[in-house]
Amino acid sequence: MLRGGSAAGTFPAMIALVTGASSGIGEATARRLAADGAKLILVARREQRLRALADELGGATVIAIDLTEEDAPARIAEVVEREHGRLDLLVNNAGAAWRGRFAEGGWADVKRHMEINFDAVVRLTEALLPILRRSAPSSIVNVSSVAGRVARGNSGSYSAAKFALAGWTEALHAEERPHGVHVGLVLPGFVQTEGFPQRELVSHPLARRIVSRPEKVAEAIIQAGPGGKPERIVPRYYGIAVIAKAIAPWLVRRLTGGGGAMTPTTRPDAEDRGG
Ligand SMILES: NC(=O)c1ccc[n+]([C@@H]2O[C@H](COP(=O)([O-])OP(=O)(O)OC[C@H]3O[C@@H](n4cnc5c(N)ncnc54)[C@H](OP(=O)(O)O)[C@@H]3O)[C@@H](O)[C@H]2O)c1
Repeated sequence: MLRGGSAAGTFPAMIALVTGASSGIGEATARRLAADGAKLILVARREQRLRALADELGGATVIAIDLTEEDAPARIAEVVEREHGRLDLLVNNAGAAWRGRFAEGGWADVKRHMEINFDAVVRLTEALLPILRRSAPSSIVNVSSVAGRVARGNSGSYSAAKFALAGWTEALHAEERPHGVHVGLVLPGFVQTEGFPQRELVSHPLARRIVSRPEKVAEAIIQAGPGGKPERIVPRYYGIAVIAKAIAPWLVRRLTGGGGAMTPTTRPDAEDRGG
């Protein structure tokens, strides 16, 4: 059953909030939802990007905010209540990664990954859950990563946050089902975006074939939200890595141990975007 929509593939009355809508997967998701008639609430730090997208899509509510700020969830909930009074879909997509080994980055690096990739998702969901329950049938999609199932060297902090997000999402799925709020999990593999340019992979003639596009993930987000799927690995063949880890963990350890070519090119500190 499609939640907040009236027919397969169309969401004329849906109110959808997408975090991280200023680039990459979030922007592609906003475009995909708008094409099917959803009314959008766009959230990220870069206001000009959000306003340009809103204009292009024929109007949307823009909330320019740093999701790690203490009062961000309450401020967002207040705007949603005031301007829309309901919420049919929450897409927790905003996230970031900085590569690095634990011996170099330590707890500080784990903390900054948890703040945006896990804590911010939990806090925003807590603030919006009452309105999602009131709007049921409704849905939440949390964007984790294949790195939230299979960890590699050089991105342990990111994996820790995405593993936490996957586990928490599975529990929330069970808890919210009786309340009519479907909770879906999306685990993308390597996708070329601004924050994750995947330079090492796309420069290899063979490796570039495993790099996907944001539009593919946007489709998986629709399936895991209004489409009612509990989980989508995207592209689907990345599921092989998850199965391999369960049945032949030694093999996966050998392939991923050093954090070499399998490590995504995530945003180095020098390119980190401020507020
Ligand atoms: N690309 C991949 O290979 C890949 C693979 C697996 C999972 N993912 C996940 O997919 C999601 C989207 O990533 P992407 O590839 O589309 O990267 P991206 O192009 O860098 O997009 C990240 C989005 O998150 C927003 N964001 C980051 N920090 C924020 C903060 N503190 N407050 C508010 N918004 C913030 C950014 O907007 P502002 O900078 O304007 O705030 C941007 O819109 C992330 O959760 C990522 O972990 C990506």
